[in-house]
Amino acid sequence: MSKYAPELISTAKAMMAEGKGILAMDESNGTCNKRFEQQDIATTVKNRRTYRELILTCPNLSDYISGAILYDETIRQSTKSGVSFVKVMQKAGMIPGIKLDTGAKNLAGHKDEKITEGLDGLRDRIAEYYQMGARFAKWRAVITIGEATPSDACIEANAYGLARYAALCQEGGLVPIVEPEVLIDGKHTIERCYEVTEKTLHEVFRHLYVQNVAYDQMILKPSMVISGTGCSTQASVEQVATETIRCLLNTVPPAVPGIAFLSGGQSQERSSAHLNYMNAKFKSQCPWRVTFSYARAIQQPALEHWGGNSANVAKAQKLLLQRAKLNSAASKGTYTQKMEKKPVLV
Ligand code: 13P
Repeated sequence: MSKYAPELISTAKAMMAEGKGILAMDESNGTCNKRFEQQDIATTVKNRRTYRELILTCPNLSDYISGAILYDETIRQSTKSGVSFVKVMQKAGMIPGIKLDTGAKNLAGHKDEKITEGLDGLRDRIAEYYQMGARFAKWRAVITIGEATPSDACIEANAYGLARYAALCQEGGLVPIVEPEVLIDGKHTIERCYEVTEKTLHEVFRHLYVQNVAYDQMILKPSMVISGTGCSTQASVEQVATETIRCLLNTVPPAVPGIAFLSGGQSQERSSAHLNYMNAKFKSQCPWRVTFSYARAIQQPALEHWGGNSANVAKAQKLLLQRAKLNSAASKGTYTQKMEKKPVLV
């Protein structure tokens, strides 16, 4: 039987506070550099630190963001004036979180499939991050839809990894964000995405149960049930929202306090519109809070505007706040297309 842990329950509740979501800013150095290269920003430690300072010192961000997921490099960094990022977050009322997986690697014996690594030494790493101030964590597993994928082996191995990670987090005082991402890339239909997502979530919750993970002390971070980017028929906002909620109601235990979606390569507007529709139409049917944990769908306009130039920081922060605000509205079902048109002034 899983344990009653008041600290974890209250952290999870705070992460899922009404009108708020979780900001994912835990890009590994490799991924962060990739995003920088796309904007012609030099891929240096200094630039990564400066960019993360821009995000974490954004005025009023905590009105819409309950916590932010950091990467190992970031949780050890400080502002230019020497205040640690963890302190900056605590002062602003945002909970520090940490990415614990060490990346998705090729799954042996299974072409085109991935397995997430990072279990070795995890207990000690959790203890260190807890001591540094982290109170929740994230582990991302990747499921690829193709003609012959996903294999049962891939789903099973990733679900097992997520469950082992989640159990270790709860033992060490961190609320685990359990993130099984079914990739949007591919020609698959929304029906196929539903099938794969449902199977994956069933397997994930079965393994969580076997490993004694307390459902009321974790957050699920799934992908939406959506058409593959290469599919010739693209599902409507209504279809994506309806199928996603149907899939979650069929798989996620009501004891789970919240679901916080990844954006997974959807456009900013679509990410907001889908989340909004789910809350506007289905809130009364959902036993858990339904919100966001986006990275690209929140950060992109700010990153593009900043471009590595300190003169652009203030406006970049306004753009970041704007997307956080719109997604906050979507998490309450009050987002409208018209809100997108409002200009962001410095
Ligand atoms: P995206 O919202 O950019 O998909 O990122 C979310 C995330 O944390 C992926 O692990």
